[in-house]
Amino acid sequence: MSPGIICIALFTLHIFGNSIIHGKKEKADSITFINKEMAVLGKTARCSLISISRTSVQSIWMKNQEEDNTVLCILKMLSTSPDDAFMWALIGHSYGRRAAKKKADFCFKQSAKLMGKHSEFVKEWHYVAPFVIGKTEFDGDPLSFYDGISNISKFRFDTKPSPRYFTELTPNGVVGWAKQKQTQAGDTVQIRPNVNWNDLVSSLGSLGITEWQGWAVGDLVVNEENIPLAVQCLGVARCYINNTIIAGDLYHRDYLWSSLVLPRGVHHVFVPLRAKVASGFKFIVSSKLPQVEIFQPSFLPDLYEGYFPQKVYIAVPVCNRMPQKWLKLTKVDVVKQSQGSSLEARVIDSAQFIAPGQTRPVTVQLFTSDSNTKVVKSCREKSIELELKFKTSEGAQNLSVQLRCRRKGSSFLFTFIDHDGSVQHAAATEPLGIHSGQQDSCPVVLSLHGTTVSPQNQADSYKKMVDGDFQFGVEGMWLLAPTRHGAHNWEGPGLLTAMTALERLQEITRHSAVFRLQADSSKVLFAGHSMGGHGAWHLATHYPDRAIGLVSLAGWIKKEEYGDSNLFHRHDISNSFVDPSLKSIMEACVAENDVDKHSSNLKGIPVLARIGGNDRTVHPLYVRRMLRVLKASQVDVTYAEIPDLEHWWWDTKEANDGGCVNDGQIRAFFDQINKGSRS
Ligand SMILES: *[C@@H]1O[C@H](CO)[C@@H](O)[C@H](O)[C@H]1NC(C)=O
Ligand SMILES: *[C@@H]1O[C@H](CO)[C@@H](O)[C@H](O)[C@H]1NC(C)=O
Ligand SMILES: *[C@@H]1O[C@H](CO)[C@@H](O)[C@H](O)[C@H]1NC(C)=O
Repeated sequence: MSPGIICIALFTLHIFGNSIIHGKKEKADSITFINKEMAVLGKTARCSLISISRTSVQSIWMKNQEEDNTVLCILKMLSTSPDDAFMWALIGHSYGRRAAKKKADFCFKQSAKLMGKHSEFVKEWHYVAPFVIGKTEFDGDPLSFYDGISNISKFRFDTKPSPRYFTELTPNGVVGWAKQKQTQAGDTVQIRPNVNWNDLVSSLGSLGITEWQGWAVGDLVVNEENIPLAVQCLGVARCYINNTIIAGDLYHRDYLWSSLVLPRGVHHVFVPLRAKVASGFKFIVSSKLPQVEIFQPSFLPDLYEGYFPQKVYIAVPVCNRMPQKWLKLTKVDVVKQSQGSSLEARVIDSAQFIAPGQTRPVTVQLFTSDSNTKVVKSCREKSIELELKFKTSEGAQNLSVQLRCRRKGSSFLFTFIDHDGSVQHAAATEPLGIHSGQQDSCPVVLSLHGTTVSPQNQADSYKKMVDGDFQFGVEGMWLLAPTRHGAHNWEGPGLLTAMTALERLQEITRHSAVFRLQADSSKVLFAGHSMGGHGAWHLATHYPDRAIGLVSLAGWIKKEEYGDSNLFHRHDISNSFVDPSLKSIMEACVAENDVDKHSSNLKGIPVLARIGGNDRTVHPLYVRRMLRVLKASQVDVTYAEIPDLEHWWWDTKEANDGGCVNDGQIRAFFDQINKGSRS
């Protein structure tokens, strides 16, 4: 053995040192196998590699998996490192392709002894990045010029010459393959292309240039035929195992899984990356998880003063990890309840089907036999606990949920069936200062939250300190703070969710035994902060017939011109090819969300537009621009730029005076609108 080979062998043992040591007899068997095969192949084939390493062996394997020469090289590699599980799988794959089933069986068995049924994670990722982005999450593939990623990934182990691809983001206009190791299952893989971003940002005057796309590629070994695998790709929109597309999850929710059955062999994992500066993704694979799992709902409705506000829905995520079998969910029962009169449960549409590899929210309705019964007499206990039992085609499973009990004077959450059939939720707070008998209904302040603010936090920011206690809500008007999962900016589905929440609030407050006043969905004061400030502009300009007033706080005008993550055809890969007439169709599709273009709809509606003078999350420039445009349309607009304050604050003039969304100026505006709505 030459010193070079010893060195490689030690290095290999070092990396794979934690593998299970073969039994003595088995080890002897595997060495006999290697020697015998080398002797046979050595007669006709030749391994032309100058230095035999994992990289050099994989480099030739990627191109000629079944050739004698390739197999001989792998055997040589194995003769110095017989404990390399990956090499056993590689050669097993080759024998499989050569229809040498018995030999393939033997090799996969060696691999399985060392690493188990399949690799637990991808130990080494290769990536090629950065390239400029395209417009949507399904980018134009920057490698389509080279016939796509599965073609060029064949070259990822090559060193002489190492392949280069053209990109404008790196010096000399080319980029090659780079490596990133993953050390543990479940780890986030950080990909940070080596680019002088500062130089690009300052010179181009564009932060948007830091958003890039690319590909990461890895290998996944499966040592036994047809193992069902559960897979997650988190932090990316999608990934592929060989040619199978796997739905990803940009938002890293734990409960979204896909599943598939893979034949024995070495499979390639392709991950399309898109990120600013650095990308972090997770690729998770497992064969040990339960086939069916029922997860906690992301949100639950509250009891209010012991009542259920009429119809109550919960969305229960049910995950079917069986790769080939549908799951049928037939029934749900309340099997235990910590207190109060009995609640019942049913699955909407009597039965629900969950596809192989699908996670899907199942809508469950909770109800009492008499809709006006209190479930609990008072809210002395802060919550009630329910044990739900789900009957499925794979047996029964339980889920316990806790419903909070909220009292008058505080906000409460309610759930509803949204415009698209999904279950969504909103927070609401009863009007302040109105006593029954005075009137039957009142207007609604529809308050839209900013990015990452929950509906309850949005509703509860309408508070002020009175005699040492916080008072929540708005004088004489219902307060409603809806939400919708995902990135929507209150446009499209977000807008429809807000308007549906408004209709549902009117329904649950009609003829209610617990609410004093009905919410009037035809009299709406649109309000919101930040992304919700944009939402308030957007909804009021689209529903001016219902608008009795508008309060937009730190609101931006259009996403494409705010921040740097939605630039419209700024650095896009498609810019060099797209026809201007096609581009104009794309722009026309989003123009309905440009609030300045619709500002003349606000004529006759009182508007308060406000922002902190030092706000740099949303610059006052955007609100000033709306001021100018609104004035040109003779809209009744009041503009305030509050000195020294930033994007959010709790105290405008004094401690706990209502702050950013509910201080003296805003409350005075609310009062004026409310009085006007009654005259
Ligand atoms: C794949 O890529 C290589 C080099 O990157 C190129 O030479 C070849 O034409 C491409 N297409 C196919 C079908 O191999
Ligand atoms: C993966 O896909 C490639 C190319 O389509 C194919 O040659 C290979 O056999 C596939 N591997 C497996 C294990 O199916
Ligand atoms: C579900 O909960 C009920 C009541 O606590 C219990 O009797 C039953 O055994 C549980 N079923 C399962 C499948 O856990």
